[in-house]
Amino acid sequence: MSGITSVKSLAERGIQTVPLQYVRNPGEEIFNNINSSHAQDVQIPIIDLHLHGLNVQPLSKSSVDEISSAAEKWGFFQIVNHGIPESLIARVQAVGKAFFELPIEEKELYKREGGGNNAGYGSKVGISADAKLDWRDSYYNIVWPVSQRVMSKWPKQPSDFTEVMDEYSKKICKLWEVLMQALCGGLGLANENALDEALGGERKEIHFTINYYAPCPQPEQVIGFSSHSDADALTILLQDQTPGLQVLKGDEWINVPCIPGALVVNIGDQIEILSNGKYKSIEHRSFVQKNHVRMSWPMFCTPSQNVIISPLKELINEENPPLYAASSFQEYLELFFTKGLIGKDHLTDFKNSSA
Ligand code: OGA
Ligand code: NI
Repeated sequence: MSGITSVKSLAERGIQTVPLQYVRNPGEEIFNNINSSHAQDVQIPIIDLHLHGLNVQPLSKSSVDEISSAAEKWGFFQIVNHGIPESLIARVQAVGKAFFELPIEEKELYKREGGGNNAGYGSKVGISADAKLDWRDSYYNIVWPVSQRVMSKWPKQPSDFTEVMDEYSKKICKLWEVLMQALCGGLGLANENALDEALGGERKEIHFTINYYAPCPQPEQVIGFSSHSDADALTILLQDQTPGLQVLKGDEWINVPCIPGALVVNIGDQIEILSNGKYKSIEHRSFVQKNHVRMSWPMFCTPSQNVIISPLKELINEENPPLYAASSFQEYLELFFTKGLIGKDHLTDFKNSSA
């Protein structure tokens, strides 16, 4: 079998048992605990931003408090009334679905090459040959700024892909700035753009993935997306109405419910570092379904690659030493992709040993 096997084609072949590479070791597999008692008790926060169009700024004091408290206690929250029109969200979902519905030969035109450049279509990210595989196909590229797009891997089909992704990423960029200002407020910073500036300001980037979780004949044996924290600064994820995402809270996995029109926001490693650990990038993972396709559309708000990320100096004093070493985002990413998805170990490598 050649390099990439898409889980979509495995599912379409009608296999009854999953290939061994996808079968998790006992204890490691995801048990679909969607009906467990915990699922009803504990919920990640749902925050109403009261933004009806993104020109209404800044956020109210209570939204700022809710956001910073959720970022601190959970690292994950959902937002509603975020100002991104439902019609645009529907178009983002439509072009993503249309891409994955293209014949495999056509998708393979955009096949990921590996080796430093992860842009394109494929089934796994930088894990060793004998590692277990996730039950997930994906497409990845940089959408903003346009100069960073890997054009050789940019889909020509569906024909409105570019227009829709351009419009969506511009709106996400604005939302990102609004959320970042709230996070600055929660850190007690006088400059509400301190985080944005630390991430490169105008030079910041938006990377995106479209995740496709095919139906799986043995969903309890596999993992859709292995546990990881996100390497970026802040992730804004759109999901369809099929559950699958789980967040680690303490030592318990909590299901993230599907709320029509909502976006899931999570703190990435870079904001954990910049905030000197006040805001947490939390491990999350996804399970898959027996009879349903599940898709998700995360947008990764990312520093420009050569920016050096270290705890904001405004937060550092004698009582609060820096908990993380400075590193360029590029250096950070290299380590992230070399090590593969292993929970939060990659972040541990940047922790100051003395702290
Ligand atoms: C990711 C991610 C979760 C999901 O793309 O980083 O965590 O539910 N996705 O697809
Ligand atoms: Ni993630």
